[in-house]
Amino acid sequence: MILVVGATGLLGGAITQILLAQSRDVRILVRHNSPSTAMAAQGMATAAQTLVDGGAQPVYGDLKDRASLDDAVAGVDTVITTANSVLRSGEDTVEAVDLQGNLNLIDAAQQAGVKHFIFVSALGADVESLIPLLRYKAQACAALRECDMTHTILSPNLFTEVWVGVVIGAPLKAGQPVTLVGEARRKHSFVSIGDVAAFAVAAVDNPAARNASFPIGGPEGLSWRDIVAGIEQVLDRELPVRFVQPGEHVPFVPEAVQQSLVTQNTFDSVIPMDDLAATYGVTLTPVSTVLQRMFGG
Ligand SMILES: NC(=O)c1ccc[n+]([C@@H]2O[C@H](COP(=O)([O-])OP(=O)(O)OC[C@H]3O[C@@H](n4cnc5c(N)ncnc54)[C@H](OP(=O)(O)O)[C@@H]3O)[C@@H](O)[C@H]2O)c1
Repeated sequence: MILVVGATGLLGGAITQILLAQSRDVRILVRHNSPSTAMAAQGMATAAQTLVDGGAQPVYGDLKDRASLDDAVAGVDTVITTANSVLRSGEDTVEAVDLQGNLNLIDAAQQAGVKHFIFVSALGADVESLIPLLRYKAQACAALRECDMTHTILSPNLFTEVWVGVVIGAPLKAGQPVTLVGEARRKHSFVSIGDVAAFAVAAVDNPAARNASFPIGGPEGLSWRDIVAGIEQVLDRELPVRFVQPGEHVPFVPEAVQQSLVTQNTFDSVIPMDDLAATYGVTLTPVSTVLQRMFGG
């Protein structure tokens, strides 16, 4: 049995769909009052019912409530978690979900004898990071490495669909200009959510994934200016773009990751992916293909 935590999110939903297509026994953690059904209508989440209709077994629980996780992990061989607080609000803070919630899940899984714990971290996760989300991810990774379970830690780069969606798609939809921070010339290997999902699923059985940590990027390095140019090509028109100083607020971008737009101007993050793609049997999707899907009508 594989438990997916975060299945009602974008990546977790994609992972669950692949596992169900492979006829695996899949359980999903589902929350009462989850905003995901409404968000799914806007393409911002995955409806739990769709996954249940596809054969997933729902179990109710919340990462903030340690006791609620025991039923979810009972009889599970592998846990895959993608859960995080960035697109949630209220009591789902980074401290409560990304730090304590992940520690709760690691503890519950270990107590239940789970064999393999696959954790989706993020590129740049570091206990010294100025970005709380990245600090807490690193703390959860440290706890996972210290316990007895076999672990796999995936550290993806920027998700193309999510970042392009909030930085470019959302303002365009609202009839507003796109806001880019700083020079926006640094190159990053934006990665498609489907490709990250493929790595997570491949990690379940691949011996190379046992007690392994690795970054995941897309097939090429692109800057925000390159991305704008790519969308202009798809739409066959120029986009209205304004530039702001690092630190200025960028509309539509969640608070927890505003700082990431600043740091994206301070380094390139182009990940050599050929060996990893071959090891895990994943064919990486070109960013142009994702942009065509998102803006090609
Ligand atoms: N976006 C990026 O560019 C990027 C880059 C690198 C790494 N990542 C990482 O990739 C992972 C997946 O991202 P995503 O965009 O797919 O996330 P997402 O769509 O925002 O999904 C969030 C998921 O977390 C669940 N969740 C939130 N609070 C919870 C709680 N208290 N208890 C149980 N579940 C809770 C949500 O459940 P409900 O539906 O019940 O709220 C939902 O299933 C995250 O760990 C993220 O940090 C993202």
